[in-house]
Amino acid sequence: MDYENLLTVVKQRRSIRKYKPEPVPIESIMKVLEAARWAPSGRNSQPWEFIVVRSKDKLRQVTDIFLEQSQRLREKSLNFPTSRKDYLRKVSTLIVVCADPRFKPSYPQSQVSEQLATMYRENSERIYMQTIAAAICNILLAACSLGLGTVWLTGAGESITEQQLKEVLNIPQQLQTICCIPLGYPAAQRLSARCPRPLETMVHFDEFDVGKWRSDQDVERFVQDNRVRAKFYRTGRMP
Ligand SMILES: Cc1cc2nc3c(=O)[nH]c(=O)nc-3n(C[C@H](O)[C@H](O)[C@H](O)COP(=O)(O)O)c2cc1C
Repeated sequence: MDYENLLTVVKQRRSIRKYKPEPVPIESIMKVLEAARWAPSGRNSQPWEFIVVRSKDKLRQVTDIFLEQSQRLREKSLNFPTSRKDYLRKVSTLIVVCADPRFKPSYPQSQVSEQLATMYRENSERIYMQTIAAAICNILLAACSLGLGTVWLTGAGESITEQQLKEVLNIPQQLQTICCIPLGYPAAQRLSARCPRPLETMVHFDEFDVGKWRSDQDVERFVQDNRVRAKFYRTGRMP
């Protein structure tokens, strides 16, 4: 493996929200999940489970859940510029990524003092989330390397959606549904350029370069833009 090949895949990966209905061969699905299996994890805990949804009946039921969730988000959320999720109707494979919070106590814990207990407990949360994110990233990149599209749908973590997914997919109550990833052949190439922040604005050598601190106004502008876009999605009009 070389860096250039890896970076090509990293740069090519885009969130895909338009799919061809062609089924993805089971071999490709397993290749994608094999990449997830090798992800790093806190304490090598590997607290993940992957539910591969392929039957027409289950796909319909899960898609219904996400369409309802998307509608709720459009109507009730203050700031979330969600697009319609009708594209899910065309998808032949959905991967529901679950995580098992019972593994959290395997990350550093302490009972020496309340302060230390809290400190380690809070960091356990972060270790757990980083662990799951590592597996998800491997899924997205492996899929891209096979010419498959994906998008990381975190709506699976909303409690209403989580409960519905657990019922439809027979997921044990103790697990958490972290995200849902459609997997399929992209129906269209993404034309819009992705514009990551320039590298030099986010890299700090030896200490935080305060000249690169993003002001509250800059962050607020980003948050505000999201609200404007959310209103646009909701009403079809720019405010
Ligand atoms: C943690 C996380 C949550 C995301 N949640 C959603 C989501 O719920 N729905 C969605 O359509 N895209 C979601 N995305 C995709 C982002 O919108 C997308 O990655 C970002 O806009 C950059 O575009 P790109 O993936 O094409 O590079 C999520 C991405 C991440 C990393």
